Amino acid sequence: MIGLPARVIRAGGLMLAAAIAIAAMPAPATCFPWSIDMYRGPEIQPFAEAPRVTPADTIPVHGGEPSMSLDQAAIKMHNPLQATPENLAKGKQQFNTYCAPCHGESAQGNGPVAHILAKPPKSLLDGAIKDRPDGYIYGVIRDGVLSSPSYAQELSVEQRWQVVTYLRSMQSAAAAKARLAGN
Ligand code: HEC
Repeated sequence: MIGLPARVIRAGGLMLAAAIAIAAMPAPATCFPWSIDMYRGPEIQPFAEAPRVTPADTIPVHGGEPSMSLDQAAIKMHNPLQATPENLAKGKQQFNTYCAPCHGESAQGNGPVAHILAKPPKSLLDGAIKDRPDGYIYGVIRDGVLSSPSYAQELSVEQRWQVVTYLRSMQSAAAAKARLAGN
């Protein structure tokens, strides 16, 4: 190196550094495909595969109940739940969310929006509704009746029965209270 002008030494150093940098880069073969991975990913088109065939002699359990009238529901649908603290608590939560705006938290027809309905609901605690079977109330929750809306989308099968169970417990409590009062 002795005797070479400083300019040549500097240029040589730069070239060496560039050569090291290039050698340190991953080989093109390993770095290139990442650039197209995002659009060469597996792509599944709707209905590219046929839907699963339902096994013979089976019916869907969730959300696939056959449609039936309220009268049929009253006879055919039976509450599968026990009045456990958990079912009552969950039923209360759903009732207060979905039913209380019209029916009131005490189910007596005095919810905060009841007054704007053309025909406010009667109390659910006594009279005709108390004597209806569980399946009828389940049917009202699922399909709605008159201005009582359908909650088939919002409430699962289990949640609807929890609401029925909770309403039954409110009716029993109201009946016990009335008996105590001597009515
Ligand atoms: C938008 C207000 C509103 C909401 C929300 C509502 N209801 Fe009603 N419901 C009514 C009205 C009003 C009636 C009285 C029926 C009528 O004459 O239109 C009624 C009637 C009923 C009846 C009696 C049906 C009959 O045969 O007389 C039941 C049971 C009932 N509702 C249950 C529920 C339950 C359970 C919920 C919550 C999942 C609920 N309702 C949510 C307004 C509502």
